[in-house]
Amino acid sequence: MDKNFYITTPIYYPSAKPHMGHAYSSIIADFFARFKRIDGFNVNFLTGTDEHGLKIQRAAEKRGIETLKFCDEISQTYRDLSKTLNLTNTDFIRTTEKRHKLSVQKLWNELQKNEDIYLSKYSGWYSVSDEAFYSNDEIEENNGKKIAKSSKSIVEWVDEESYFFKLSKWEKPLLDFYEKNPDFISPPSRKNEVISFVKNGLKDLSISRKSFSWGIPVPNDENHVIYVWLDALTNYISALNYPNTTDPLFKQFWPASVHLIGKDILRFHAIYWPAFLLAAKIPLPKKVYGHGWILSADEKMSKSKGNILDPIEIIKKYGLDPLRYYLIKEVSFGNDGNISEDRLEDCINSDLANNFGNLCQRVTAFAQKNCEGKIPGSKEFKEDDLKILDNLSKNLDLIREKIDNQDLNFYIDFIVNTLFETNKYFNDQEPWKKKDNIQRLNTIVYTTLEIIRKISFMLYPIIPNSALKALKIFGINEDDIKFSTFENHNYLEPNAKLNKIDILFNKIEKKND
Ligand code: MSP
Repeated sequence: MDKNFYITTPIYYPSAKPHMGHAYSSIIADFFARFKRIDGFNVNFLTGTDEHGLKIQRAAEKRGIETLKFCDEISQTYRDLSKTLNLTNTDFIRTTEKRHKLSVQKLWNELQKNEDIYLSKYSGWYSVSDEAFYSNDEIEENNGKKIAKSSKSIVEWVDEESYFFKLSKWEKPLLDFYEKNPDFISPPSRKNEVISFVKNGLKDLSISRKSFSWGIPVPNDENHVIYVWLDALTNYISALNYPNTTDPLFKQFWPASVHLIGKDILRFHAIYWPAFLLAAKIPLPKKVYGHGWILSADEKMSKSKGNILDPIEIIKKYGLDPLRYYLIKEVSFGNDGNISEDRLEDCINSDLANNFGNLCQRVTAFAQKNCEGKIPGSKEFKEDDLKILDNLSKNLDLIREKIDNQDLNFYIDFIVNTLFETNKYFNDQEPWKKKDNIQRLNTIVYTTLEIIRKISFMLYPIIPNSALKALKIFGINEDDIKFSTFENHNYLEPNAKLNKIDILFNKIEKKND
């Protein structure tokens, strides 16, 4: 079985400070990276910044500073955000790095060698905000301005010499590829839009610009810079040391397991990127997953709309893990989802403080008092105990399968239900009434502690710091978190000391309570 897992986030434009939508992509990618890691996989997890193109050049001009300096500054805020979000990325790539430039130029040469590039002229619409070319039927007029129908961003007319990629040539091979690899475009709801776009006929793609210079020069023609999307997409292989395809990193991790992206950039990842790779005879990634948008009062968050929720502010106010939990739980994965501070507060109170935090606190306090502060010794599992224990261990393969299908909604529901069932089990079993039957009391406490251990393992990819804090009860460290121990109901060592822990989550007093 392939025990290597390579996940990527989109590389972010350093044109402005990171916002919640960016934090979302990164947190979800980190979830998968952590899950796979504790399931015994070697994980490569890449994120970074996409620094070329007119959008960045103009943003730097507006600030009146040199473009690279501007990129250095904002790219650093994304690097800092990775730390703030507690991401376990194994690399952070910048498209202004030398390793990337070499890789892009080599890919260009491959496309040229295979006769997929020709010189012509581009006359048409271009959106600097999307860094995308649009055809006439993708444009509409709004208040006298031409805008792209899909993104609503302003387009401008471009008339210049340009190199083209023979995208039209790859129409049929792409359709064949989608058919043979039905999971390539995920979730399934996004597949049709891509397939019908390809079926409608692919036009050759302009892949160079001549009217500005902020980009990677076209090999042997310094008058052109390479189109920023061809440049940006290549980051996924530059980070594995492409063009050296015999490099251990490339051999181990390419093709990528999942490119995690927002739905607005699906066309680039599900059409252009595979076409470039087919043309360069490089294997295609296994999956492109287009997640939905984070909405604020039903609108996509964006700088121009002024409805941006700043992840840093939210983290300062509520802490990181509540935000990670909330984004993963409340935004039905694959769909758009509204977020609000009010709902975040509900989520902290009900799921984190009441359901999980309280269970940990209550059971350890009971064990401190009634089991000498130790993991109970003698025990004998009965049907009720095994039922709840088995529900976790026997479902591990199902959980793995769901995660391989990016079914985060199943995962989180499973956790919430298990927490609910465990609280109910502890209440129904009434261990406080079993003081004359120590073995039964011990068994109930042991069973509940085992479930706290297992559920903390499951929570670790979502709320790593809090899960680790909970696992301190048992002296379990990060390196000990392994799904391979999931089937063992006797993992906790009898008579080992139970450590006291601080409150995991503080309840929020709500204004309207
Ligand atoms: N630079 C390109 C990606 C190149 S990948 C080879 C880009 N950058 S971006 O900074 O504009 O967006 C990065 C990601 O953030 C995209 O996946 C986009 O969908 C996501 N989001 C931006 N706003 C978002 C929300 N409001 N909600 C969720 N994700 C959104 O595109």
